[in-house]
Amino acid sequence: MVKIVSVIGARPQFIKAAPLELAFAQSGKITHYSVHTGQHYNDNMSKIFFDELGLQKPYKNLNVGSGSHAVQTAGMVVGLEPIFLELQPDVVVVYGDTNSTIAAGLVAAKLNIPVAHIEAGLRSFNREMPEEINRILTDHLSTLLFAPTQAAVAQLAKEGIQHAINSGDIMLDMIRIAERKGILESNVAEDYCYVTLHRPYNTDSESRLLSILQTLNALPFKVVFSLHPRTENLLKNEYGVDLKNYVNIEFIEPQGYFENLKYLLSCKALITDSGGMQKEAYFLNKKCITIRSETEWTETQTNNCNTLIWENIQDIQLELDKPFGPFIEGIYGDGKSAKLITQGILGYLTNTE
Ligand code: UD1
Ligand code: UDP
Repeated sequence: MVKIVSVIGARPQFIKAAPLELAFAQSGKITHYSVHTGQHYNDNMSKIFFDELGLQKPYKNLNVGSGSHAVQTAGMVVGLEPIFLELQPDVVVVYGDTNSTIAAGLVAAKLNIPVAHIEAGLRSFNREMPEEINRILTDHLSTLLFAPTQAAVAQLAKEGIQHAINSGDIMLDMIRIAERKGILESNVAEDYCYVTLHRPYNTDSESRLLSILQTLNALPFKVVFSLHPRTENLLKNEYGVDLKNYVNIEFIEPQGYFENLKYLLSCKALITDSGGMQKEAYFLNKKCITIRSETEWTETQTNNCNTLIWENIQDIQLELDKPFGPFIEGIYGDGKSAKLITQGILGYLTNTE
């Protein structure tokens, strides 16, 4: 049996790991362990996904928790090394662009363990984003690069990495799983905008975050806001904001994966700075407004399906009124990414035996 260790730690990584765990099990050739770094630890940012997506219990949880980039990443690096030495995996799998990903990639590469990077080749070309640093470094230390789009494959080629595989987007695999479970059948009135925000450039400036909230509060329809703990902590503990003052906004705690999809499915439009949610809106044919100056998921901008708003936050209403669509099928693959990734890893190991 081939031994694979996945390193996960942040909300979107639990979601991306779920289809791959299934595909690994279905291959009958893989013993799979996951290690949880503990980057996200609230029940509704971590445990809920293990419960509802049936993720296997992590071999270990490093419980690294929150901290500065250096403290958090260093804690992971120190915690992961003895685990990799003990388990001696054939491949370490990392997902996306978080501190958990760069920490695991760095430790594995230094131990000469091949790294497989899911979501390789994405670029915002904005080096102020911690994720941009994480993803560039992880791509360049990985042996196996699974890119979600042809554009990501081309970007890697430009950077001298010629062997990336276009596996499609693994988040579409999860959408297909939700479809099969009947989660996407509800059809409720689209009378609210759904909102998630957590990027430092939107949350870490009090004036910017409050100006976004004021704009949302003034919209002529209701807003439901799933509050990421980063945003909640800043609003309540740093900026001393009483959320009740925003009467048009219903703040809800972070939702489980399926509940979140239901909110997305039933809304008029999504307003977000999340990477994963931009794609999920596209998969579900929902208009998306992204509060950022650029996006890695440029394909979602096709036919005005996803619009960027950065300086003029008050333009949200204007953008919501503009026509959009049609949504194009297939730009993120066919929802069978996990199988392609599994075959890619097994094929690589067979060739290097
Ligand atoms: C991290 C990732 C980001 C990803 C996001 C997904 C990095 C650099 N950032 O951002 O790429 O889009 O996860 O959600 O890896 N907190 C809690 N409880 C938790 C988790 C976080 O209270 O369970 C609060 C803490 O105040 C913490 C803050 O959120 O300091 C930020 O958490 P952190 O994991 O450092 O970054 P995210 O903003 O969540
Ligand atoms: N998500 C969730 N509950 C929520 C908000 C988001 O389950 O209340 C899911 C969402 O469906 C997507 C993922 O979390 O799959 C995106 O994670 P996040 O926005 O935290 O990070 P990003 O994708 O920006 O890295």
